[in-house]
Amino acid sequence: SNYSQMKELDTGSATSTIILISGYGTNLQAILDEVANNHLPIQIILILSDNPQAHGIRRAKNAGIPTKIINYHGFNNKADFHLTMEENIKKIDPDLVILAGYMRILSEEFCRQFKGKILNIHPSLLPKFRGLNTYQRVLDSSDEFHGSTVHFVTEELDSGPLVLQYRTKIKTTDDPKQLRKRVQLGEYQIYPMAIRWFAEGFLKMIKGKTVLNGKRISKPKILE
Ligand code: GAR
Repeated sequence: SNYSQMKELDTGSATSTIILISGYGTNLQAILDEVANNHLPIQIILILSDNPQAHGIRRAKNAGIPTKIINYHGFNNKADFHLTMEENIKKIDPDLVILAGYMRILSEEFCRQFKGKILNIHPSLLPKFRGLNTYQRVLDSSDEFHGSTVHFVTEELDSGPLVLQYRTKIKTTDDPKQLRKRVQLGEYQIYPMAIRWFAEGFLKMIKGKTVLNGKRISKPKILE
């Protein structure tokens, strides 16, 4: 398939990467596992969390990766939180910033500065269901499918160029929890895959569009 052809390009040095988390960190774990298996040529410099309780911090520590907590609730002035978080990224100046269940919004200025270098995963078939509570909202709709999307981050929330989607058919028996479980299993496939494409140089954002294998794509790739 197209996907397997994209494995071969060798790019030399590993992509320096920072990962941002807020919670349980199962996507982080999927990424850490792929790195440990030498399937993902990224070098994770730092894992940042806005939430001191995030279980993902434990996962990072178990993998021997430096962590830093910048506690959102420790700032009276939320602008200072964002400045601090973003300063910590800027001083490392990584090739790639991965949002893995990071539930805060990056500033417009930061998104512009790191344009084409920030990836996010969002639990819906974007452009459908931007924002929160996507599982309940899709079950309340008449949609046949749900899923998750890897996309580049731009200044506009959940609206950057789409890269890769996992798609699953909604069952009449699904509740939000069951649907989330199935979608998240798909996330553990698509996120490392898209990150690998980026790290190997196949995936870029050029002039606000996703470019894969040198071709501009107007629709995301879909995995089912
Ligand atoms: C993921 O399923 C991701 O799609 C979602 O949060 C979950 C984090 O789980 N992201 C968003 O809702 C972004 N707005 P994890 O911490 O176990 O990876």
